[in-house]
Amino acid sequence: MNIFIAGGTSGIGYALARHYLDKGYYVGICGRNPGKVSANSFKNLKAFQADVCDLDSIGSAVQSFLKHGKNLDIFINCTGSYAEDVAGKISYEEAEEMLQTNILGTVNCFEIARKAMKGQKKGHIAVIASVSGILDYENSSLYTKTKRSVIQIGDAYRRALKPFGISVTTIAPGYVDTLKLRQLNNNDLSKKPFLTDVEKAVAIIVAAIEMQKKFVIFPTKMKWMMRSLSLLPSFLLNMIMFRKAKWMKDDRP
Ligand SMILES: NC(=O)c1ccc[n+]([C@@H]2O[C@H](COP(=O)([O-])OP(=O)(O)OC[C@H]3O[C@@H](n4cnc5c(N)ncnc54)[C@H](OP(=O)(O)O)[C@@H]3O)[C@@H](O)[C@H]2O)c1
Repeated sequence: MNIFIAGGTSGIGYALARHYLDKGYYVGICGRNPGKVSANSFKNLKAFQADVCDLDSIGSAVQSFLKHGKNLDIFINCTGSYAEDVAGKISYEEAEEMLQTNILGTVNCFEIARKAMKGQKKGHIAVIASVSGILDYENSSLYTKTKRSVIQIGDAYRRALKPFGISVTTIAPGYVDTLKLRQLNNNDLSKKPFLTDVEKAVAIIVAAIEMQKKFVIFPTKMKWMMRSLSLLPSFLLNMIMFRKAKWMKDDRP
């Protein structure tokens, strides 16, 4: 199998790459800084420098991976950009990077993957959104809004690509214990409910792809919490989410 992982140079993406390499598959990964990964340590791994915000850049990386006429069996988009706080309280640069990476980058990945898979009449594309994108509430951050868009974009491509034999899985993880999450929280994950370790996250994502599931929320406790919250009237949901955001920030320096 040939698997390409955009955003495979760290965190969830790199852990997925390791999983597929252990199975003996050919894996291509890309990021803006591929030097983070020592590609020489894995015979079947190719690392590329590519920015998903640039269609040509991600396109060239996938083309280079597929040279010698390889099929593309699975494409996974694990890229993401996160800036805390609501719009207006983050810088323009942070907002721009999030919109570019999470929205344009998602569309670019779908476009490149579908072109590579179209002639094959089969293939699978997965994209990592976030559990935060499931609920619609007043005080949600721009990150949350972009991840809500990722879920919608996944739905649109799922419908569009079905006639070509290409299936789409959207993954909405809760908190996953990655270096990035730790960096963003001064290494203190005590206020992250239902934290999932990265190996468990990989097992869930791999199973969802194998079963060609449309949409997966994990962990299960987070899924049920989201389902319960989504039943609340909007004023109550807004109040709970506002208080939660305040509680999470309260003891920050
Ligand atoms: N960890 C969590 O708790 C959690 C929860 C919900 C959702 N998620 C989502 O899961 C995904 C992975 O998160 P993670 O914690 O594993 O973070 P991570 O370690 O920072 O992984 C992000 C990956 O994306 C790459 N990347 C970022 N911007 C890119 C761009 N413009 N072009 C190409 N590559 C780019 C990064 O590499 P370079 O820096 O080299 O470009 C890195 O390989 C993200 O979409 C995140 O929003 C994470």
